[in-house]
Amino acid sequence: MSPPSPQDMLAVHGGTPLHGEIRVKGAKNLVSKAMVAALLGDEPSRLFGVPRIRDVEVVRDLLELHGVRVGDEGDALVLDPANVEHAAVDQINVHAGSSRIPILFCGPMLHRLGKAVIPDLGGCHIGPRPIDFHLQALREFGAVVDKTDAGLALTAPNGLRGTKLDLPYPSVGATEQVLLTAVMAQGVTELRNAAVEPEIIDLICLLQKMGAVITVHTDRVIEIEGVPRLGGFAHRPIPDRIEAASWAAAALATGGDVTVRGARQVDMMTFLNVFRSVGGAYAVDDSPDGGIRFWHPGGELRATALETAVHPGFMTDWQQPLVVALTQARGLSIVHETVYEQRLGYTAALNQMGATIQVYRDCLGGTPCRFGRRNFTHSAVIAGPSKLNGADLTIPDLRAGFSHLIAALAASGISRVYGVNLINRGYEDFEAKLAALGAHVDH
Ligand code: EPU
Repeated sequence: MSPPSPQDMLAVHGGTPLHGEIRVKGAKNLVSKAMVAALLGDEPSRLFGVPRIRDVEVVRDLLELHGVRVGDEGDALVLDPANVEHAAVDQINVHAGSSRIPILFCGPMLHRLGKAVIPDLGGCHIGPRPIDFHLQALREFGAVVDKTDAGLALTAPNGLRGTKLDLPYPSVGATEQVLLTAVMAQGVTELRNAAVEPEIIDLICLLQKMGAVITVHTDRVIEIEGVPRLGGFAHRPIPDRIEAASWAAAALATGGDVTVRGARQVDMMTFLNVFRSVGGAYAVDDSPDGGIRFWHPGGELRATALETAVHPGFMTDWQQPLVVALTQARGLSIVHETVYEQRLGYTAALNQMGATIQVYRDCLGGTPCRFGRRNFTHSAVIAGPSKLNGADLTIPDLRAGFSHLIAALAASGISRVYGVNLINRGYEDFEAKLAALGAHVDH
């Protein structure tokens, strides 16, 4: 392995509370899917408020390889799918391992060209992250899936037809897969046990703008009536509620005061409840250029018990940043991770810095989940408050990486954080934002 470059290491001089204002743009986990949805249209689409992050660049490259013309207009992207074509397998494979988005090209490419080639998938290292629900759903629509050395090759010899589907778990990606395939499949699709995250509802709004007919029923049932053609969209995505919560947790862990412009209360209600219950304070500004101000009101933070879950539960991506703040709360906090089986590995680095976090295979503090029976380390007990000391850290994945960064900011002394480029996958200009909030960091 080559040694890390200086640009990929950040020296963090911790102990300074973050103070100031930053802005979040469109949600990473909507923007990347919206870009793929543009493939379905027979007109150009416009996506506003697009953050400059690595995941967007990867999807842009992939779209361009498939013949989509992508242009910039300020912070908007214009996506013209008039000349969609197959990309050479070796070109797509340049992106193998760097993003999970290519799997969502299946439905649109089958509709457009009758064939899709998908490289091996990457994304964060948070457990095996299988794609069995995706492939099962695509087969039910009539796709034939062949595994090749280069990845997956899909065809639809008899076209794609609407179907009845029931997901084993309300997977975000599999729900998006079904939506992007069903909108132009022949007939009606009924999806049960669908994910209903705000990013999913926003994708449905965008598809509706293109001409899709989608009904969201109660109890996680989504019905999609296939249409023969879709037009373009002009869409401003919902704000990034994961980034907003990450900065909120950074404010709390460092004893600071951060206003996140663009953050919206409705997308973050569950987070806000937990933030307040542990002793954080917030104020919502509903004006057009508003946001949410998050701060540590002084005094001690309180321990809590929380369980990550699908929407409207506490997001799995909010867990890692908040746990850093919980190391500063008095008492025993319990975190039960029920979405991913291996999303607590980052706590070892926090312990190295002085935190007291013990991880367990049992389902602690909540209802038993599917991981308890399968022996995964997916619960944590955090004893606090602990004094954190600077350390040398290596970032394992995006969200864990941001939690390492928060820990380094909250710690006394200098931390050297390696692998910070991973944070650019999902946090726009995070170094400039750190500087704007008064953090002392350098390369
Ligand atoms: N799952 C399967 N089989 C499948 C698909 C999913 O078993 O075919 C399992 C997964 O292994 C996991 C659970 O279902 O245990 C949930 O996975 P889901 O499909 O919901 O996640 P995803 O679509 O791969 C998106 C976000 C994640 C976010 C999750 C949950 C994107 C690009 N990624 O992943 O975001 O944590 O939903 O909300 O939208 C991140 O932004 O850092 C990130 C990891």
